[in-house]
Amino acid sequence: MAEARPRVWVSQPLFDDIVGRLGEWFELDATREVTAWSQQAIADRLRDADGAVVTLNERIGAEEVAGAGRLRAIANVGVGYNNLDVAALEARGIVATNTPDVLTETTADMAFALMMAAARRITEGERWLRAGRWTQWSFDTMLGGDVHGSTLGILGMGRIGQGIARRGALGFGMRVLYHNRSRLPERIESNSRAAWVDFDTLLAESDHLVLVLPYSAQTRHVINASALAKMKPGATLTNIARGGLVDEDALADALANGRLASAALDVFEGEPAVNPKLLALDNIVLTPHVGSASLATRRAMASLAVDNLIAALG
Ligand code: GLV
Repeated sequence: MAEARPRVWVSQPLFDDIVGRLGEWFELDATREVTAWSQQAIADRLRDADGAVVTLNERIGAEEVAGAGRLRAIANVGVGYNNLDVAALEARGIVATNTPDVLTETTADMAFALMMAAARRITEGERWLRAGRWTQWSFDTMLGGDVHGSTLGILGMGRIGQGIARRGALGFGMRVLYHNRSRLPERIESNSRAAWVDFDTLLAESDHLVLVLPYSAQTRHVINASALAKMKPGATLTNIARGGLVDEDALADALANGRLASAALDVFEGEPAVNPKLLALDNIVLTPHVGSASLATRRAMASLAVDNLIAALG
């Protein structure tokens, strides 16, 4: 009798031709519609699976894998993996993989797009125009801040942070500062044209602060009321990492009282729900967690996750 093929669960629709490659090796349980899986439903899908391809929507830890006796590998489609409790998975011998590198440049592009949109009030201006409020050109309409020649601050200097730094220094003549728990080797600093500073200096000197650090219990609300109070008056804040890095109520206050000029957020603590205080503000750019969402990059991410799973299941 032929041996049963390993079973693989794919939690969300990706690209049929890419997911289809898994069918050459495995029995495929591929989700066809975008689905909000409950924790119980995730546990049910994993129960008979040998492997899974999941996205940041699916939170998987000890409880979800408790009944998954055959599960050997989880391939996360994304570079951030705070949705996975890696220690709990490791304790059960389950390998977890992510998709770094393939999204670096696309996500760095998006950070720049958001930072520029916040600085130059692009979405605010568009809303104003569409509302029919542009009745005459005037000299002082939508005055914003400059990006070129200003000081760019990067909190979290991994691959994406370095891509943002290169764009700032080489493309826009910016002075680039960064803060990371550990200072990077000199070669990387000089390739990125970035100088390490302590956290408070980064806050005080950045005209445009961009968050690109991993989210964890230690980094939750790293930008809170006290950090916001230390930021340069009139600065902008851009977050393309994870929403929980920012205390959104405190940010809303800093935007409402003009302490910060503007902000751009691609990620939210309770996403897809967005804090109503943020929605009520004009000086903020809001996008639906699409930092890596170019077609080519999303295909590359899906493809890498599929390759990772095939390799992990051997
Ligand atoms: C997206 O947020 C990712 O981590 O890849």
